[in-house]
Amino acid sequence: MSGPVLLTGAAGRIGTWLRGGLPERGWAVRCLDVVPVADVRPGEEHVVADVTDLAAVVDATEGASAVVHMAGIASESTWPAISHANIEGTYCMLEAARRAGVRRVVLASSNHATGYTPRPAEGLLTEADAPPRPDTYYGVAKATMEALGSLYVDRYGMDVVCLRIGSAFEEPTTTRQLSTWLSPADSVSLVDAALKAPSPGFSVVWGVSDNTRRWWDLTAARALGYEPADDAEVYADALIEVHGEPDLTDPVHARVGGEYTTAEFDAENFEAGA
Ligand SMILES: NC(=O)c1ccc[n+]([C@@H]2O[C@H](COP(=O)([O-])OP(=O)(O)OC[C@H]3O[C@@H](n4cnc5c(N)ncnc54)[C@H](O)[C@@H]3O)[C@@H](O)[C@H]2O)c1
Repeated sequence: MSGPVLLTGAAGRIGTWLRGGLPERGWAVRCLDVVPVADVRPGEEHVVADVTDLAAVVDATEGASAVVHMAGIASESTWPAISHANIEGTYCMLEAARRAGVRRVVLASSNHATGYTPRPAEGLLTEADAPPRPDTYYGVAKATMEALGSLYVDRYGMDVVCLRIGSAFEEPTTTRQLSTWLSPADSVSLVDAALKAPSPGFSVVWGVSDNTRRWWDLTAARALGYEPADDAEVYADALIEVHGEPDLTDPVHARVGGEYTTAEFDAENFEAGA
């Protein structure tokens, strides 16, 4: 495959990890963000653009071998803000890929696309057992992202891999994240697998590390070639000492989307300027 990977959201947290890890796995990176990337690295290309500017992102996608779309608002916000950046932005990136002849797109979906899905009584939750069931406007935008990806696969024969990312942080900071953590290194492994998997068609996979307390199934992600190396359990003693053992009947632990399913995330708490 020739041409760089177009990485949107390159200035963000996961984008910064990917800029570090993807070149080590053989990928040249063209960075795109609405803000300039602070620490430009050798070999990178850079574009400052808004992902909702279709003409600009078509230009930025020309000559790329694949698109990794991470840009957007990364938590709950108002409907106008979410629908513009996260729904319009995803449409523009898929459409840019189609127009530029780029066949492979990796999308940063989220567990919040299916946040109201309950924890299974036993065993691991597969993606097939967790259809869209969003917990917020943010989750609606991620469910729409998956639907748009499905459309571009069925209509145009593209390959679109949707990563339902759990909690991507340097390290877990809550007891929920003992289950949902996706480490920086595993973020790179997952995106690399999504880029390399032969003909995945439309694929939706959980994005979590191999956490001992994980309850999201990794069979589908592993089938892409994902080989997680990290386990949040190394942080368990310290977190449990501070926060106590998780109460598995609490919505924070009993639903995929955790605290996003609680009243704290009701829309009125996210009015503009709130
Ligand atoms: N971090 C997590 O735990 C997590 C979990 C699930 C899903 N995700 C998703 O992964 C992606 C990356 O998350 P992150 O934690 O790195 O977020 P982040 O906020 O650190 O980075 C997002 C980047 O997108 C850029 N951006 C925002 N709107 C843009 C626009 N209109 N045009 C161009 N660039 C724009 C921002 O400038 C920022 O650099 C997001 O789509 C997020 O929803 C993250």
